[in-house]
Formats: sequence, C-alpha cells, structure tokens
Amino acid sequence: MSTITVDGYKEAHQTLSLPELEQSLYDEGRILMDRVLVTLHGEEHRVRRLLEMKIFKKDFFNYYEKEVLPAVVNATLARFLPTGRTDLMDFGRRAMLDLTADFAGIDRPAGTEEERDALLSILNGLGVAATLGQYTGDREVMRAVAAKALSDFDSRFFRPSAERRRQLLAEVAAGRLAEDALPRDILTILVKNEGKAGLTPDMILRETGFYFLAGAHTSVHSLTHAMHEIFQWTAAHPEDAERVQKDPLFVQRCVHESFRLHPSSPIAQRRPTCPVHLPDGQSATPEDTVVIDLFHANRQPSAFGADAAAFNPYRELPPIQAPYGITFGVGIHTCLGRNLAAGDVSKASTDPATHQYGTVTLLALALIANGCRPDPDNAPQREARIKREAWAVYPVLLGA
Ligand code: HEM
Repeated sequence: MSTITVDGYKEAHQTLSLPELEQSLYDEGRILMDRVLVTLHGEEHRVRRLLEMKIFKKDFFNYYEKEVLPAVVNATLARFLPTGRTDLMDFGRRAMLDLTADFAGIDRPAGTEEERDALLSILNGLGVAATLGQYTGDREVMRAVAAKALSDFDSRFFRPSAERRRQLLAEVAAGRLAEDALPRDILTILVKNEGKAGLTPDMILRETGFYFLAGAHTSVHSLTHAMHEIFQWTAAHPEDAERVQKDPLFVQRCVHESFRLHPSSPIAQRRPTCPVHLPDGQSATPEDTVVIDLFHANRQPSAFGADAAAFNPYRELPPIQAPYGITFGVGIHTCLGRNLAAGDVSKASTDPATHQYGTVTLLALALIANGCRPDPDNAPQREARIKREAWAVYPVLLGA
C-alpha cells in the first residue's frame, strides 16, 4: 500500500484520463461527498454528468454573465464601497455565495443579511467536509462542524427550495406553466429526475450542497490569488497598471495565469480499480493511492517554459495548451463549471465587447474598476490550518 505521485504535466494529463482510476480525494468527507458527481465512477458518473450538463443550454453563459452576475456584483460592492475597504476573501465569498446559490438552486426568500450570513456559515461548514482529508488538526471536531452545516442547510434552505421546484414542475406538468419559466439551476434538474438514475432525496441534498461548495469556494480562493498576482505584477511593472484598468482581455490573461500557478486543489487523488500501468512507467494496484500533483505539473518548465514557476501574463503557449494548465482537471471529472469560472480563452480575433470572461475575471474587473489596492496598514495572512496554498484574510482599500 503506497502513495504514487505523478507530477509531470503530460503524464498528469494522461493519468487523469485513465478509466481504471477512480476518485479518492474526498474519502474523508463522505458526509457531504458520498455519491456526488465528483465521487461517482463509470456508468453512474456518466449518467449523472449528462443529466447535469443540461443546464448549459446554448445561451446559458450569456444569460449568466449579462443578467445574473452584474446585479450580484453591484449589490456586493454596495455593501463595502461606503466603508472604502473590504477583505478579498469576504468580498469573494459574499459575491460567490449569491452567484453559486442561484446556479445550484438555493432560494433565499428573505433576502436579508441574516439569511446571507446563515448561508455563509453553512458554506464554510460544507467546505470543511471537502477538505477534511487535508486537515491537519482534530478531524472528528471538524466532521461535527460539517454535519451541523449539512443539517442546517437541509432544514432552512434545501427543503423549501426543493419543495418550490416540485410545485413548479407540477404546474408545468399540468400545462399551467411554460417549461422555460422554470428556474435554470441544478436543483430543478435533480428534482425533475428524482427517483431516476438512483437519485434519492438525500443524494439530491448532498449534490446541491456539493455544487454550492464546488462553485463558491474554488472561485473565492482563485479570485484572491489572482488579485494578489495582479497587485504584485503592477507594482513591479508600473507600465501595466493602466493596462489592467483598460484592457479586460489582459486581466483575463492575468487570471488564467494565476489559475495555473494556484490550482484551488493542489492535487487530484485516485484509487486504481485494478492493477494498472501509469503513463510515467510506474505501476499501481487497488491498495495504492495515486496522487496527481496539479500544482507541480502546472509549473513544469518543459510544458510552460523556463520561468514556469513565475507569474507572467505575457506567457506564449501553443494554442492547444490551456493557459490555466490542468487546474480544472482532465478526463471524466473535468470541472463542469470551468467555463463559468474561467470563461473562454481569448484569441487575436476576440471581440472584448462580446467575449465570455468568466466569473473570476468579472469579479476582478469590478474590483479593479473600484480602485481595489492592498491596505498598507493591514497585511494579508495565509491560511495555516490546511495543507493547501490559501489566504485567510486579504484586506484591501476601495474607492479614491
Ligand atoms: C476557479 C474555479 C474552479 C476550479 C479551480 C475548479 C476545479 C475543479 C477540478 C480540479 C475538478 C476535478 C476534480 C478531480 O478530477 O478530482 C472539478 C470538478 C468539478 N467542478 Fe470545478 N472548479 C472551479 C469552479 C467550479 C464551478 C463554478 C462549478 C459549478 C458551478 C464547479 C463544478 C464542478 C463539478 C460539478 C465538478 C465535478 C465534475 C465531475 O466529476 O464530473 N467548479 N473542479
């Protein structure tokens, strides 16, 4: 029983595509992650993924970026602009909370700050479940935190949201409501398919909670890393300070480069379903753990150049190579929210007015447009409790 690590870029890519390897990163976090999309394998995974991909109909990204996102960003900014300051992690969590809740299908009928705070604390509790395997302290204490978050989520948010969707679907079935008037979210898709493909109410609860978490947590950390890199870059390259104000495609390049350097999960982890030869020549059995080191693969000089470990938004890569490396995974578990978070990769012919930028870039642009800069009196602090590269707090100033 050993741990086999794959850290070459090409080899990591190929390893993630092997059908003989199944998910094992979330074994410790079963309370939330048991049989959610990212922990399923084989046919069950394929059926669930196809079902959930239905949300991305043709105009979905345009609808999301032009209709859902601006209102959420403005409301979040309105909270902080009068004080002239925010913490990037708090700003990101509040913005992503609403965006991802809308995407997942979690209603917030009261629309109050108390309601958002309750959901925020649930989000933090669910986050504990997903990262339990990397937690260095007492895991039992944290497991209880995650269990409480899931139970609060169930009673206050999930059940009423699922019930409202059941009623709307009944209205559609009775011909009193048009199908396209249904909410465009994951929960509506799941409730519509309840009982099919093994979807029990418990599983729908965990799946909705997982989506809420998968969308929000990853993007919050990515936004803070990206803003940090942009601050560092413009301090060292004052000639680009104006460019970040005026060139949204350049800001997206910065965000993609930051995604590459700071994948929100530094590793993917798999368990062989049978003895398997890995593409880098190593062999593994079902007793072994295969770790795919996304962090180091994304910094490999042979794939990204001699300065691979440095932030360089002018990096030139072959067109087939994603600028964010394998940060969004590869193969059957490739991130379903990648386009939502990262947008399209721009080309020389891209029109900035119609381009799809992705949530993280759009949040970064909103912060930049509002004078976001490091707070000289309050240094940012790293998160020390988990074995991942993350910020705990990142105080910034806003406005003139
Ligand atoms: C910066 C933002 C994000 C990053 C870096 C990220 C990263 C990842 C990675 C690495 C995986 C694959 C895990 C594995 O192979 O073990 C994944 C899977 C997934 N992500 Fe994301 N993600 C992000 C945002 C989102 C968003 C916004 C959503 C949804 C709204 C989302 C939904 C999912 C889902 C559903 C899966 C599971 C796919 C499957 O197993 O078939 N992610 N993500």
